[in-house]
Amino acid sequence: MIEIKQIEKAVKVLKSGCLVAFPTETVYGLGADARNAQAVLKVFQAKNRPHHHPLIVHIESSAELHCWAQNISAEALLLADAFWPGPITLVFKKRPEVLDIVTGGQDTIALRVPRHPVAQALLKAFGGGLVGPSANLYTYLSPTFMQAVQDDLRHDVDFILDGGDCEIGLESTIIDVSGVPMRPPTILRPGMITQSEIEGVLKKRNRIDLAKDIKDIKDIKVPGMHRVHYAPKTQVCLVEQSKISATLTQLIKQVTTQVTTQGGSKQKRIVLLAFNPLNERLSKQFANQFAVNIEIIQMPSLARDYAHHLYRLLRNLDQKQYECIVIEMVPNDESFTAIRDRLLKASARS
Ligand code: TXA
Ligand code: MG
Repeated sequence: MIEIKQIEKAVKVLKSGCLVAFPTETVYGLGADARNAQAVLKVFQAKNRPHHHPLIVHIESSAELHCWAQNISAEALLLADAFWPGPITLVFKKRPEVLDIVTGGQDTIALRVPRHPVAQALLKAFGGGLVGPSANLYTYLSPTFMQAVQDDLRHDVDFILDGGDCEIGLESTIIDVSGVPMRPPTILRPGMITQSEIEGVLKKRNRIDLAKDIKDIKDIKVPGMHRVHYAPKTQVCLVEQSKISATLTQLIKQVTTQVTTQGGSKQKRIVLLAFNPLNERLSKQFANQFAVNIEIIQMPSLARDYAHHLYRLLRNLDQKQYECIVIEMVPNDESFTAIRDRLLKASARS
């Protein structure tokens, strides 16, 4: 458990307009006082994030909703009651006094009540809202453990609260409940709370949309929906099981050519994150033709475990200078929606 002294120090740093990284149940956030424009500006600078991209404000409980949002619908309250504190972010029409730098000049604000005990203790002691984008460099993988924050933001974060490994490991589900302009609740970013769970609370099967394409929501800005995001530096190649063999054969040719022309090292050059057990053909290929060049890692079969491990694993693999991280596509099952979304973004190239 975190010491009270740590929380007190974090509050002091925040009150002085500086930055504190803090754990949440999803990923680590880069916190600053959401009512202090200079402090919020530092967040954009630290992350190298374009200024017009809006930030999530973290609050201690839904009792503070009215300090930030207006026109709060009955549906929004149902969702807040059901999922807060927890890994869901709700987008409301903002109150006029909310700083433009927080919302990217939009008339909406994203709010979340995290359930991680350290985040809860921090918000309670701070007594106000904290902006909290993921504590990573813009477009890189979100940090799910303290060292990852240090690796990305060492020079730009004033204090880091260590809360261990994040339980969920993927960013929150974001739902627009602002009702403008006459928009039904819409999932802007899938997370581990699924569409069915949300519909279950709203009890209106047809009234929730999953925005599939940035074109669907051109009047709002959601950088997490940009094509490339949550991406390691190493090239990621996402393939269905039926294409693994052909893809690896092709990649191995390129790698072998490079090794012979550059006299490269003996380290394996490609890594495969397998989802299904290898079929007979692949097993044979791994025993023979692939053995020298390709590392294989078997991924967990439950979405919950897959999500929990994914970002740490990708960060780790990114240190090892593979030519390519080949990832077997996850099942087309609702529990994997958020993982599919992040894998697609990690494998997109601008
Ligand atoms: O799990 C999470 O949500 C983490 C933890 C730290 O809370 N935070 C996080 O923040 O992922 P960030 O900034 O990396 O992603 C927030 C997303 C961005 O894609 C942003 O565009 C969107 O929320 N967002 C923020 N305000 C918005 C608004 N008013 N309307 C629509 N989208 C908004
Ligand atoms: Mg982020």
